[in-house]
Amino acid sequence: MDKSKELRFPMFAVNNADCKHLFDNRYGTGQSVFDSIDSTTNLVIAGKTVVVAGYGWCGKGVAMRAKGLGAAVIVTEVDPIKAIEAVMDGFAVMPMIEAAKLGDVFVTVTGDIKVIDEPEFMVMKDGAILTNAGHFDVEVNVHRLAEIAIDKQEMRKNIVGFELPNGRWLNVIGEGRLVNLAAGDGHPAEIMDMSFGIQALCARYVADQRGQLEPKLYAVPQEIDREVAMRKLTALGVKIDTLTNEQEAYLASWNV
Ligand SMILES: NC(=O)c1ccc[n+]([C@@H]2O[C@H](COP(=O)([O-])OP(=O)(O)OC[C@H]3O[C@@H](n4cnc5c(N)ncnc54)[C@H](O)[C@@H]3O)[C@@H](O)[C@H]2O)c1
Repeated sequence: MDKSKELRFPMFAVNNADCKHLFDNRYGTGQSVFDSIDSTTNLVIAGKTVVVAGYGWCGKGVAMRAKGLGAAVIVTEVDPIKAIEAVMDGFAVMPMIEAAKLGDVFVTVTGDIKVIDEPEFMVMKDGAILTNAGHFDVEVNVHRLAEIAIDKQEMRKNIVGFELPNGRWLNVIGEGRLVNLAAGDGHPAEIMDMSFGIQALCARYVADQRGQLEPKLYAVPQEIDREVAMRKLTALGVKIDTLTNEQEAYLASWNV
């Protein structure tokens, strides 16, 4: 909207603040996705193959937690840099059409549409579980799945099974909407505090700068990010070191 000059008031890119995406997206999504999958399915993740679509901040958290629960993890990506990160973090990386044949549980976290679509549905294993933790209900094309299914039934509360013409059943949790919200409690308040802290301090910043900001997209000022981080550390009872004047001068120099 900023690029199209559609914004009518100043906005802050809160998701880009470190105290937002490094914690809420990574640790919040990582944990709450499995809280919801575990309680909704009552299945064990250990020994299963979990396919994570997207290795951004949410995907990193989901993949990390899946590995910790004992799953074999496959990552799918479109960005070569994110893909090599996933490889070096120890995950298998391949196109979704290949991963579709191997996965027991799928989690999409891309912000994109049709990440899992008809060609993938047709090669999935019987009983595969499809979840989305990314954007609305568009990452897994549940609409198309319902069209090609020859039968459909509620398998458990919040899980709908679709029978494909090949006789295999695919299970969709929470209608393909954000699984941790549609079938769980979302992130713990303990991690949302930082996201809401960033938002609150941005609102105060806007009020303090009244009349001086233009209708465009602003980065969250670094002081706000650092203030939220310091307050979180204080709340956790964690202390850190402070640069001495000599260290600060040394770090800023190039010829000492
Ligand atoms: N469930 C939740 O509680 C929760 C929390 C925060 C963010 N989100 C949502 O999760 C989504 C991802 O957020 P993020 O912070 O990880 O974003 P991000 O931009 O850091 O990561 C998204 C990744 O998906 C990849 N990608 C895009 N299209 C793809 C495709 N077709 N196949 C494979 N990979 C693809 C991108 O290359 C990128 O690496 C967003 O829609 C965001 O709104 C959900």
